[in-house]
Amino acid sequence: MSTETATGVTVVTHPLVQHKLSYLRDKDTPTVHFRKLANELTLLLTYEATKDFPTETAEIETPLERTEVQRIAGKKVAVCPVLRAGLGMLDGVLSLVSSARVGFIGLYRDEETLQPVEYYVKLPELGDGERDAIVLDPMLATGRSSAAAVAAVKNAGARSVTLVCLVAAPEGIEHLQGEHPDVRIVTAAVDRELNERGYIVPGLGDAGDRLYGTK
Ligand code: URA
Repeated sequence: MSTETATGVTVVTHPLVQHKLSYLRDKDTPTVHFRKLANELTLLLTYEATKDFPTETAEIETPLERTEVQRIAGKKVAVCPVLRAGLGMLDGVLSLVSSARVGFIGLYRDEETLQPVEYYVKLPELGDGERDAIVLDPMLATGRSSAAAVAAVKNAGARSVTLVCLVAAPEGIEHLQGEHPDVRIVTAAVDRELNERGYIVPGLGDAGDRLYGTK
């Protein structure tokens, strides 16, 4: 169950997704549960994010007879979490797309320019123009880090890019789509707004701190 809210944005409204998100939002959910829920929620979002993967017909033998089946057609996927909170979503994707290659994108914010700066980028081979990238960034807040991460995988040659996030703010969607109108966004919710400190409200707080028990 999903809703296309605006071009390129899919909000997954399936009851399981919304149920798990409700516990992620709850400030009393402890780290151990938060981590598990973030992965489970990402798995469900991945189901939606991969729904247009092309399939091809193959012929196999069941124990009873030969039959035609559908298999994903030579799909090469790179999953790229944005450090550090995106790491909390990685296992969720890999449990469904186990053959995916994995890339890592580390960004920090320059306090003078407020722009994201890459401090670590290690991506798999994307330059063959055949690999589709799934970027993982749990909170699409200002959209600056997601946009920089998308730019990194595009520069490396990704054929298409889907951003999977847990919660998005309207400001982040606008910024990301302004810079990368071709990127598809899959999320469990679009929240009201960003507050003056750049947090999504109502949101779920700092995703990294909640995943790793830091403050
Ligand atoms: N990053 C987070 O972890 N949470 C927010 O609300 C915004 C950015």
